[in-house]
Amino acid sequence: MTCMALFMMALLVVSMVLVSSVNARFVVQKSNIRILSPHNLRSSNHVGAMANFGVPNYGGSMVGSIVYPEKGYLGCNPFDGHEPFKSKSHRPTILLLDRGDCYFALKVWNGEQAGSAAVLVADSTNEPLITMDSPEESSHAVGYIEKIGIPSALIEKSFAETLKTALTKGEDVTIKLDWSESMPHPDERVEYELWTNSNDECGSLCDKQMNFIKNFKGHAQILEKGGYTQFTPRYMTWFCPRPFLLSSQCKSQCINRGRYCAPDPEQDFKEGYQGKDVVIENLRQLCVHRVANESNNSWVWWDYVTDFHIRCSMKKKKRYSKECAEEVMKSLDLPIEEIKKCMGNPEADVENDVLKMEQDLQVGRGSRGDITFLPTLVINNVQYRGKLDRTAVLKGICAGFKETTEPSICLSRDLETNECLKRNGGCWQDKQHNITACKDTFRGRVCECPLLNGVQYKGDGYTSCQAVGPGRCTINNGGCWSETRNGKTFSACSESHLTGCQCPHGFRGDGHTCKDVDECKEGLACKCDGCTCKDTWGGYDCKCKGSKLYITNHDTCIERNSSKFGLFLIFLVLAVVMSGGIAGYIFYKYRLRSYMDSEIMAIMSQYMPLDSHQNSRVVHHEAEPLRQG
Ligand SMILES: *[C@@H]1O[C@H](CO)[C@@H](O)[C@H](O)[C@H]1NC(C)=O
Ligand SMILES: *[C@@H]1O[C@H](CO)[C@@H](O)[C@H](O)[C@H]1NC(C)=O
Ligand SMILES: *[C@@H]1O[C@H](CO)[C@@H](O)[C@H](O)[C@H]1NC(C)=O
Repeated sequence: MTCMALFMMALLVVSMVLVSSVNARFVVQKSNIRILSPHNLRSSNHVGAMANFGVPNYGGSMVGSIVYPEKGYLGCNPFDGHEPFKSKSHRPTILLLDRGDCYFALKVWNGEQAGSAAVLVADSTNEPLITMDSPEESSHAVGYIEKIGIPSALIEKSFAETLKTALTKGEDVTIKLDWSESMPHPDERVEYELWTNSNDECGSLCDKQMNFIKNFKGHAQILEKGGYTQFTPRYMTWFCPRPFLLSSQCKSQCINRGRYCAPDPEQDFKEGYQGKDVVIENLRQLCVHRVANESNNSWVWWDYVTDFHIRCSMKKKKRYSKECAEEVMKSLDLPIEEIKKCMGNPEADVENDVLKMEQDLQVGRGSRGDITFLPTLVINNVQYRGKLDRTAVLKGICAGFKETTEPSICLSRDLETNECLKRNGGCWQDKQHNITACKDTFRGRVCECPLLNGVQYKGDGYTSCQAVGPGRCTINNGGCWSETRNGKTFSACSESHLTGCQCPHGFRGDGHTCKDVDECKEGLACKCDGCTCKDTWGGYDCKCKGSKLYITNHDTCIERNSSKFGLFLIFLVLAVVMSGGIAGYIFYKYRLRSYMDSEIMAIMSQYMPLDSHQNSRVVHHEAEPLRQG
């Protein structure tokens, strides 16, 4: 690098600070920590500063036991043994280490390797908490930094002392790490932005950023198309200090007369690509998003950026160019002219509305700190902490939805916490039919009555769930009692009732268990003179004395004798026909109502096949005059 280049770099850094130093601040994102045991420490609430690596459990929480290793409390070397901190009970281990001697990330990595579920680093002095950052790029750190997959936090020295004191007394120190408030989740749409750069020649940082965009593209587009998120790409620019406006450095690194600059990719003003090329491509990518957003397909930005990187990488000679960009736009059927119009004239001595806005936004506002490094992800106006990795970021975005409004992508396999595997997460379940209310989500498990084969279960999800509505009896018999004996089935579920279980006739119980009623013993039926009663499952058999026929619904015996029976039938039909008259009505209502069901008719026709013709004739003959009367 030439001296001049170094000088320029320094200047650019200074000017960058000018853009965002009005109110320069870096917001330390925090998670809550609560001591669950020992009991006397329960009342206090604490915070931890989330690290800028690893995977914070956005939206969720973790309960674990603190371990402070006597040997290696700095955590700078791998711990002896095979996963010495691996949880032996159901409760994970949260390792407490002291700050100092090596990178934060190395401590956390060693802790993870040793089987701990999270790492707390105790600050070494009394000071406001800081964010534990990834180490500067170094060949040594690159090996593990991306592999860290657990959450970690820096805690205050005094809080750490409290924990250590309790531990030295031999107490079991259990804490709850809680990230549920680390991400605002006010409504059912998440707004997020990625501060990025089209430069792909800046080493591992640029590669990391591009890999993230490629890996996250699928998720991002699903979320955007579904209207679940509003994503905005953001690009950082610098500006040229006034005294240097006419210098060749500013001319090669800036557009619009020094207003918008980016560092020269090779840090050599004479060779290869210029800073200006980067600013122009950044502007083009912004305009691709703007123009596409106007026709409601903003997600095309992800396609454009990934395609551009594949086809027009700086690594390919002279490919990082307007021509290549236009080829990509054409292949994606983007309106090139509109995008050009949005970009304006980079040579003109005027403000560019699009880039001006980006510069203004670099300064933090509200809960969001200044944008000081790339790439930076901002979700619901909070700077995301943790590694820029597909799953970790999705977790962060998902935690930004108001509970229960998150799209199904948030409930997918790779975000599960597997909390349902232990004791079914404490939720309701029907082991016999393999139905559970436990649902694994990124927030941890939820106990929610399931929807099975189109039938909704309702209940508190913890102790009870019941199928409700049509079709409920087809699944697990609506949770009701049912039993089959000798090919005969009785059920306490009825489709005509939307909920609940009722024991069928002949049974007694709460509907979940039903017991046969012994009608004979209880004297509920077969009380006719001389009848013999025998209980059956779900009913009873009643035999009348001699050859008499038992009529179930009326609990009475009638003669099988045809003439008498014929009379009875006449009597019966008479009553129906007479129902027009008051006498008939009374008779019908009080005497024969129960006779008139199909069961009786069926029994009759069965027992009197020979008499039926004659009887029906008689019936008609006798019936006519009565109707007129
Ligand atoms: C994208 O369009 C929506 C309306 O459809 C608008 O609210 C939003 O501000 C636009 N985003 C950008 C970056 O223009
Ligand atoms: C885009 O969506 C907004 C509201 O969602 C609507 O007002 C606008 O007309 C749409 N634009 C196009 C080009 O479909
Ligand atoms: C219960 O259902 C789950 C998924 O629905 C399945 O993975 C599991 O094997 C089932 N278990 C039994 C015992 O059928």
